[in-house]
Amino acid sequence: LSISTYNKMWAEAQEALNSLLQREIEDKPPKVQKDRITVFQTLATFYIKYVQIFCNLETAYDQIVHPQKRLVIRQVLEGVMGRILELKNEMVEVENSEFHYFDDILQDLKLSPEHIEIPIPRYFIKEKLKVLREREKILAQILINAGLQDIKPVSIPWVLVIQISERARQGRLRATFMKQIYLEEKRERQARLQGAKGPNVDAAAIRIQKVSFVSVRKVLAELTMCFVHKSSMNRNEPHNTEHSELAHITGKFPDYPNEEEGGSTAIFSQKNPDQEEEEGWKMAPSNFLPIMKEGNNRYKDIWQNRDERWNFPQEYDPELIKEEKRKEVEEEIRVQVDELMRQELKNLKLAVDKEKEKKQKKGKKGKKGGKKVKFSEIMYLVCRTIDSLYKELVEEGILIKPKTVKLSDYVGEYSYLGTTLRQVDIEPMPSLTDVRQLIALYGILPLGSQAVHEKAPLVKALLLAGPTGVGKKMLVHALCTETGANLFNLSASNIAGKYPGKSGLQMMLHMVFKVAKQLQPSVIWIGDSEKTFYKRVPKSEKEMEPKRLKKNLPKILKSLKAEDRVLVVGTTKRPFDADLRPFCKVYKKIILIPRPDYASRFVLWKHIVLQNGGAVTKSLNISCLAKVSDGFTQGHIVCAVQTVLSERRLRQMTNKPLTAAEFLTSLARQDPVYKEEEETYKVKLTSM
Ligand SMILES: *[C@@H]1O[C@H](CO)[C@@H](O)[C@H](O)[C@H]1NC(C)=O
Ligand SMILES: *[C@@H]1O[C@H](CO)[C@@H](O)[C@H](O)[C@H]1NC(C)=O
Repeated sequence: LSISTYNKMWAEAQEALNSLLQREIEDKPPKVQKDRITVFQTLATFYIKYVQIFCNLETAYDQIVHPQKRLVIRQVLEGVMGRILELKNEMVEVENSEFHYFDDILQDLKLSPEHIEIPIPRYFIKEKLKVLREREKILAQILINAGLQDIKPVSIPWVLVIQISERARQGRLRATFMKQIYLEEKRERQARLQGAKGPNVDAAAIRIQKVSFVSVRKVLAELTMCFVHKSSMNRNEPHNTEHSELAHITGKFPDYPNEEEGGSTAIFSQKNPDQEEEEGWKMAPSNFLPIMKEGNNRYKDIWQNRDERWNFPQEYDPELIKEEKRKEVEEEIRVQVDELMRQELKNLKLAVDKEKEKKQKKGKKGKKGGKKVKFSEIMYLVCRTIDSLYKELVEEGILIKPKTVKLSDYVGEYSYLGTTLRQVDIEPMPSLTDVRQLIALYGILPLGSQAVHEKAPLVKALLLAGPTGVGKKMLVHALCTETGANLFNLSASNIAGKYPGKSGLQMMLHMVFKVAKQLQPSVIWIGDSEKTFYKRVPKSEKEMEPKRLKKNLPKILKSLKAEDRVLVVGTTKRPFDADLRPFCKVYKKIILIPRPDYASRFVLWKHIVLQNGGAVTKSLNISCLAKVSDGFTQGHIVCAVQTVLSERRLRQMTNKPLTAAEFLTSLARQDPVYKEEEETYKVKLTSM
């Protein structure tokens, strides 16, 4: 596909977005709807259309190299992702369920279920390959040095694979450009030979760039002056007097708004008055509509009708640099000034606290002993570098290496009967595709994108519940693979005996979350998470102290802010062993992972046989395998397939094709998930 194809794809996505935005904005103030089904249909239609736009923008962003175009596409793309999450949130509220069935709407729109698969933006990984590769190397080295990993040759790291394919893609693009440049030069040469002197594009571009460089520097200098001036004025006027007064009266300073809250800009901004509630449902206000609107306007103003015939290599458009740089510089300087002010405030705070401490020490000697120890402990942690904390956590087996698994490796089919079943009041079992969607929406998109994480409905903890072998762990690894997240293992069995005592635990958690936040995104995994909230601790597990995290976990979640791309993921196969109230208070989002249904088992058998080197021929009746394996999980199927497909059996493949009977014998040796057990899940979890 050529560059113009992707430009066209982008243009079409923008057009679709434009009309969608008009429909969303027309509805202002939002109409109040009473009929639940109409409400859901409205939401679902928007949702599906945004997912289409998301797919096309993602592809365009992945393929278009023009740096300034990428800025606009990225802005719109993140707006669309966030809007999808907002709509999802609304649908969950309206339907009171995490699972939605769109089959009838898809039919109306003439789309198939694959059209609503959430794409995973490739830039999540591609744009930080260097950092990830470096980190992967460091992790491997620490593991080797600590004797936790064999030195035997490791398979090619996956980031390398991506990098190689990315280089190849860039190479292909470059080749196309080179050809275009060559043709253009040839045309110019010919024109010149014929006497008609063409414009010298290169010289002109260089001249423009020189001019703009000088002007950027000038703008920068001016802005710096202006900003420093403004900030020092702010500081000298009401704020400073307020600070010193407060310091005298209470010994405390008001907190300076942090960067994500807007820093100095937050001080001046006004809060919106709350809107009044009415009966019925109406669309909640959106954080992402303004972002998309702005991106859409930028597109229309700059790109929609831009003549780009001169720009074959799709390079920077110098005229655009000036305007953009001005904004960037403005923001950068504001952040720096804020940082200075924040630091100053901190120093003052410390000075005041020290003064107070001295006075108290004189007054009542010895009484404050406990506090001082804590302070030095904290100072000790503050002084340690992230590198040293990282190393310690790896050596303790708390920071672990995620397996390379893509979300698309979680194979499964759609449930085609969802709407029909719901209409007759039967709650359908979610399908594996539903599970994949939820992982993408609640895990991958917010972990991958800062903008989405900060402004979309916030999910701090996710629970994956389902029987053994349905791929819960695999999904945790996929979360990390798709976003480049660090993986921490805080399972009760993994922290047993490590960092003992109350202060030990506090220190460990402090370390974990400090590293998790600084090197974000991060996934904090708690396996067998019901144990933290055991109703009764089994005798055999007493020594492990499974409830160690119970008190601290809610506090930590509270301290996580919208800007911290850290997700706690619990997995459990026995949720009913937990005291459900505190359990569900921590894990506000629960994804029930069912065993695979017929359609999914059909795809799974085929996929797993092929994956393990087997050949699928007419002699292998997959439909028979899918039918008979009702009640078994992916884990069972993998086990059955791997048992059959020994090296010896693989060698015989050409002469002796595989049959269903071979696999069934192997499967028969395993216990299926019983229907009653599954019903317990459905009933208990839907009532949670
Ligand atoms: C987490 O730790 C526990 C206990 O050491 C272990 O059983 C489990 O496999 C670990 N998870 C991973 C992915 O290594
Ligand atoms: C495959 O198995 C199914 C169900 O067990 C059966 O109905 C079908 O006839 C079989 N197909 C072939 C080609 O043997």
